[in-house]
Amino acid sequence: MELTVDSLLDEVRLAGLSEKYGTPLYVYDGAVIRRQLETLRSLFPAEAGVEVYYSMKCNPLLGIAQLLRREGCRVEVASAGELAAVLEAGYPPADILFTSPGKTAEELEWAVDLGICSINAESLEEIRRIDRIAAARGRVADIAIRVNPNLEQKTAGIRMSGVSSQFGIDEEELSGVLAELPRLQSVRLIGFHVYFGTQILSADALLAQLEDTFELALRYAEGSGTPLQFLDIGGGWGVPYFAHEAALELDRLRAGIAELWLRYAGRLRGTRIAVESGRFLLAEAGVFLTKVLYRKVSKGSTYLVCDGGSNQHASSAFLGRYIRHNFPMRVLGRSGPSEPVTVTGPLCTATDVLGQKVELPAAAVGDVICVDKSGAYGLTHSPVLFLSHALPAEVLLHDGGEYVLRERGRVHDVIRGQLPLD
Ligand SMILES: Cc1ncc(COP(=O)(O)O)c(C=O)c1O
Repeated sequence: MELTVDSLLDEVRLAGLSEKYGTPLYVYDGAVIRRQLETLRSLFPAEAGVEVYYSMKCNPLLGIAQLLRREGCRVEVASAGELAAVLEAGYPPADILFTSPGKTAEELEWAVDLGICSINAESLEEIRRIDRIAAARGRVADIAIRVNPNLEQKTAGIRMSGVSSQFGIDEEELSGVLAELPRLQSVRLIGFHVYFGTQILSADALLAQLEDTFELALRYAEGSGTPLQFLDIGGGWGVPYFAHEAALELDRLRAGIAELWLRYAGRLRGTRIAVESGRFLLAEAGVFLTKVLYRKVSKGSTYLVCDGGSNQHASSAFLGRYIRHNFPMRVLGRSGPSEPVTVTGPLCTATDVLGQKVELPAAAVGDVICVDKSGAYGLTHSPVLFLSHALPAEVLLHDGGEYVLRERGRVHDVIRGQLPLD
């Protein structure tokens, strides 16, 4: 069967998958991932030769990493676990970036031994540590400095620039750090990295941060007389989740990037441009399926209590946020007049709410709720140990095939690795 990018909208297929694999269940559509990747690539002029790095943190499934490798992506990791997964997925070290504010000595040793594309260093102390590690091995490690630019990305869902943070080196500290580099013989600065924030939906804001990045990187590279070999412009490309959000204006973005490229191409000749992306590639490619266990009314409000909740899809429950909006969701196989219901998981906490007063067609016990736009920051972003439920299965539909990427967990998984007292 030929899968189209609309295949996830096929409720009959999803209902069949929920029966076959049980619930809770994540389902992904490879065609949507491919479409998003093509869209992202199409935003940049071909002559810029932009390299797309998949941010593993958004969905660290081995099979997804493999799919994106086959599609020509490189990869960005943030831990030894993610590094292990991408090596297993077949990424060569030269295609791997490592970014995280808290890399351990062991993680850095591994990255240096592998000779990955770039360790994106987040502090002077970390650069010194990489230098010592590389020196002890008689190697020279390629690094990029992650800069915390002064430009604040006010439109980002989570801001990671222009404000005080554990990420990167503040722009105003950069000169001092660069001045120390000549004394560190075992690191080689190949360029810079910025990451302004996630879930940015404004084309103008993305263009402003891109221009700021070009200016910043070129100013320091040209000022130090070192060619800018590598520039990681970060990610943060958003997708609309909620009724009040509009999708990125792609044509406007494409035209704006083309115009920027015209202005900067000369100064960026010979520079490898990297873009990182997680959410944009994956969010719309996945759904979370959870079954209604009970339907009840409490003080006039209707509740659908389901078998999977915020322990497996914390993003939908908006854990840790003050303002909540409901993820788009539907009841498989049901249409007709809607009613306001609160969709909860099975946890013994009032925060276990996947959808609050969401308008859904009347659902009965045994019906399956489908939470859309769940491909990024779903299971990986969730407190999966809370209340000791087994992990959901994860299935990929791709090129006509159906692949189990994660088997359903078993009840006893929860005590694996624990040692009894007696
Ligand atoms: C350094 C870095 N790169 C890439 C990403 C992925 O961002 P997104 O999923 O918004 O594309 C993140 C997310 O937090 C990040 O911190």
